[in-house]
Amino acid sequence: MTTSLLFADASTISTPLLVVMAVDTSTGDTPAPALLSASGLPGDTASHLLLTGEFAAKPGETLLLHAPAGLQAQRLLVVGMGKAGKADISRVREAAGTAVRTAMAKSITDLTLVLPDEAALAAAGMPPLAYQPMTRAAAEGMVLAGIDFDTYKTDRKDRTPASLTVLAPAFIETHDRDSMSAGLAEGVAIAEATNFARLLVNEPGNVLTPTELGRRTAAMAERVGLQCEVHSTAKLEELNMGAFLGVAQGSAEPPALIVLRYEPDAPLRQDAPLLTLVGKGISFDTGGISIKPADGMEKMKNDMGGAATMIATMQAIAMLRPQIRVMAVICSAENMPDGKAYRPGDVLTTMSGKTIEVMNTDAEGRLVLADGLHYAKTLGATHLVDAATLTGACVVALGRLNAGLFANDEDVCERFQKAMRAQGESFWRLPCTDDYADLIKSQIADIQNTGVDRWGGAITAAMFLKEFVGSTPWIHLDIAGLVNIDDARPYIAKGPSGIGVRTLVAWLRSFEQSA
Ligand code: BES
Ligand code: MN
Ligand code: ZN
Repeated sequence: MTTSLLFADASTISTPLLVVMAVDTSTGDTPAPALLSASGLPGDTASHLLLTGEFAAKPGETLLLHAPAGLQAQRLLVVGMGKAGKADISRVREAAGTAVRTAMAKSITDLTLVLPDEAALAAAGMPPLAYQPMTRAAAEGMVLAGIDFDTYKTDRKDRTPASLTVLAPAFIETHDRDSMSAGLAEGVAIAEATNFARLLVNEPGNVLTPTELGRRTAAMAERVGLQCEVHSTAKLEELNMGAFLGVAQGSAEPPALIVLRYEPDAPLRQDAPLLTLVGKGISFDTGGISIKPADGMEKMKNDMGGAATMIATMQAIAMLRPQIRVMAVICSAENMPDGKAYRPGDVLTTMSGKTIEVMNTDAEGRLVLADGLHYAKTLGATHLVDAATLTGACVVALGRLNAGLFANDEDVCERFQKAMRAQGESFWRLPCTDDYADLIKSQIADIQNTGVDRWGGAITAAMFLKEFVGSTPWIHLDIAGLVNIDDARPYIAKGPSGIGVRTLVAWLRSFEQSA
């Protein structure tokens, strides 16, 4: 797939498919669709169709015209973005994705997406959207839309478009053109990294073992210039990672402890932070001896989604090359029931020295992360973020529209929430204050791996992790409900989402000035 940015009048472009966005400018119930036509697009090209009321410019709604009058393009696709007043940068990302998926369904391999100009936005009564973020969001939407999860279909057709062009008004000046091409490159890099995460999460448990996750991560690291180490059982034993080893011992597949490091091109100050990402990489979660019910267990191949998000974030950072230091620690194992498996009642001694009574072998994610978080601190982490498909309780609490966000530090949390805003991702903060600490006290060990009862299960899981971060500023992302998109959307394939990559990249980059 090639992506490019072109500055020209839309009416002069020869393309199989020209895409223009539209918004609903009405304030009441009767839709009043308006094209966000950039300069050069004849205003009346689709206007009679808009007047028929057949197209309301709802988000994801499309209208296709062949041989549009006054244009060189073979087809004109109008993509709805919903109410003008609510059409933000996320709607640009989604509209761009919808355009690509519409083209893919029709086997159209080349498309040109017209970016609205400032005048069109103002005329529609929309908030001003800057060219650079719009270009980036359009690139993200197009690249994210461009993949299907058809790896294992023998009759798969690669529908990924060959060429995607973002078209901007010809009057834009050199300086802005440069920032827009940087925006395009950023969007492509971040979306390609996210697609890597999505494809990893899609892989079944028999293919993507911890060892294979290590191999694929190392290959990516080699390609983009990240340092990468992949360790297994011997290293875990040397480090006394009793919790991580406990989870791994029931599987014939050895665990993988992956460490990725990014160093910027110019040296940083000695006291620059070491921003550290920790990912839960359970390649398959049967629940272990506390085995899960058969119904839906196949979804537990997604239980390495946190690891995939962190690996992809590292890939994006390596492409963008910001002036920060970033490390990732990935804890990957398979949770299986077996003659050698750990059992309920077992006591595990973690790398930190803290002891854990295992109440339920299905609460395995927090066990591998306990050792991963502590190890990250010994490697010099100054800020910790973990991502994990950690609890069903988080999905019960927040549904499938917000992931859980927990933090022990107000500044770092606010910084994350600020970073999230333009990225079209949703994390909702839940508490992890010390008044919950008693819920994970054990009779015979320091702590136990589940709460005393089932209430507040996402919080007790976070409290457990908090035991291992100490005073280091820390964010915990429980992505169990968002790792997968289960219902069809017009702008992206159903399946793994790559949740968190965009926000994490923005959060990491927010440290650039102070580095
Ligand atoms: N991987 C699961 C959590 C999960 C549930 C992810 C649903 C995605 C969708 C995790 O390891 C788990 O099994 N958690 C248990 C914890 C319980 C035993 C305290 C859960 O949520 O039921
Ligand atoms: Mn589990
Ligand atoms: Zn799990």
